[in-house]
Order: sequence, then C-alpha cells, then structure tokens
Amino acid sequence: MKLINGSANCDLAKNIANILGENLVPIDRERFRDQEIFVRINENVRGEDVYIIQSTAAPANDHLMELLIMIDALVRASAQRITAVIPYFGYARQDRKTDGRTPISARLVANLLETAGAHRVLTLDLHAGQIQGFFNIPTDNLYARPVFVSDIKKNYTQHEKIVFVSPDTGGVVRTRSLAKLFDADIAIVDKRRPRAGVSEVMHIIGDVDGRDCILLDDIVDSGGTLCNAAAALLEKGAKNVSAYITHGVLSDPAVASITNSALNEVVITDTIAQPHPVKQCSKIREVSVATLIGSAIERIAYNKSVSDLFHT
Ligand code: R5P
Repeated sequence: MKLINGSANCDLAKNIANILGENLVPIDRERFRDQEIFVRINENVRGEDVYIIQSTAAPANDHLMELLIMIDALVRASAQRITAVIPYFGYARQDRKTDGRTPISARLVANLLETAGAHRVLTLDLHAGQIQGFFNIPTDNLYARPVFVSDIKKNYTQHEKIVFVSPDTGGVVRTRSLAKLFDADIAIVDKRRPRAGVSEVMHIIGDVDGRDCILLDDIVDSGGTLCNAAAALLEKGAKNVSAYITHGVLSDPAVASITNSALNEVVITDTIAQPHPVKQCSKIREVSVATLIGSAIERIAYNKSVSDLFHT
C-alpha cells in the first residue's frame, strides 16, 4: 500500500498515515506563473496499490484539479490501483437539476475522477448516498456516526433526555439511525430555502420541551441552517441545543454566527482543514475521523468488508 496526499488537508493525511504505520509518498507541488498546478511524485509507485487523500474543500476547484492531476501522474507512473480517498466530496450538493438549464455537477466530478484514472473512491457522509450511483467504479461511503456515537456517550450521561433533531427533511434517515442507537426520540425542522444560502425555519415537528437537543447534519456552510434551527428549538422550550456535523465547510460568516448563536457547541470532524479562527472558536470542537478512514483503507487494501465499519 502507498499513501499520498493532496494539499487540502495535510494533517488528516499525516494522521491516517500514522495510524496505518505508513509514510506519505513524497511529492513536489508547484504552480506555474499562470497558476496551473504541477505535481511530481518522488517515489516509485509501479505496480502499487495507491491511496490519494484529498478533500475537495475550498478552494474546491483547485483541490479537485490537484486530485485529478495526481491521479494522472499515478496512472502514467504505472500504479496498479488508484483509490481516491475524498473525506469531503465537494460539489455533492449539486446532485440534481434544480432548474431548467442547470448542471448536475456532482455527476460531472464523478466522470472526471473516472476519466483521470481512479479505480475506486472512498468518501464519508456524502451529501446524498445516491451520488455513489454517479460512479461506474466501486465507491465506499463511510459514516461519521461511530465517531459521533462515542463522543455523545462521553458527553451526555442522561440519554433519555436527548432528542436528535434533523435540521431538514433530507436528514431524517441519518437522524433516525443515530437516535435508534440511543433509543431516543427525534424531531424534524421544517426548513425552507427561499434562495441559495438563505434558510428559514417554518415548523418544528416533534416534542423538544425541556430536552437536550442534538442537531445532526452532513454540512455546516454559512451556519444559517444550524443557527436558525437552534433558535427555533429554544423557542419551543428546548433545554439546550448542540450539533454534530460531519463537514465543517464554515464559509463566512459561519464562525461569527455560531459564536453569537444560542448553540452550546458544534462538533465537527477533521474532513476539512480548519483555519485559525475556527480552531480558536470556543463553541466549535473537532473530533477526528482519521482512525475510521485508516480502517477503511486497510480493509480495502486487504479485501476485507468495509460495511462492517457501519455497524459500530
Ligand atoms: C443541506 O441540505 C445540507 O445538509 C446542509 O443543511 C446545508 O448545506 C447547510 O448549509 P448552511 O450552513 O449554509 O445553512
């Protein structure tokens, strides 16, 4: 097995490599004057089973292009099998036509990865599981759920008081599957998006009065969905509100909105490298998915079941 990383999230890649007891393959990255990306892989990979770790987070286009170029370099260097490990798969929210004459960019990204020469994809909490069907190559979609479950067990002693809350109807399946593990109730926020980047809470479905509410989502981007949901839950009598979100996209003004919100805490994973202001925000805490991704890589490499990881 060989592990190699793009520039999107070096810390996560290093942690995964440490867990697997491997070194990252040395690579040179350069920019031409016009900002074209160039890479050079500084180790023989002929006949190897190679895993490229790269989240396609902001700047999404640069990180995606870097991933494609690295795959191309590996193909030309005769790697035997190339797995694109994409902890955060950007463009996933563009998974359907939202209007006339609009693209399905998630499908385009899948085509690009295949055309570049990826043989497999490993990702985590895809925005919509159906995106796996956009690929004609094996695609494993992991869930951050086991990492969240152990964190919740550590931090909440009275499980009977928890209500797991889906911030929109799209997240109900995810919320129910976590609630089942705690034998807990769920509630649903009826969210509307009058326009891109703006969310409004219409109703809360379920009883949250006097309860510890835990919001679950795949992405926190502007923070609007979360902060509005938290305010609506508190208005309905919730005792307190926290959130567990897999991908901390956290574009402006998310950190300020979360800081000024009624949320107790927002727990995110390390799929996306966070800048200093996020690390400094007292309401945002990071838990790592490095062990989970490392286990999945090991299972793929040794042809063991990946879905066994879903049951923990
Ligand atoms: C939407 O369907 C996603 O699951 C998230 O709820 C959404 O992307 C969060 O965006 P924001 O933080 O900008 O409200």
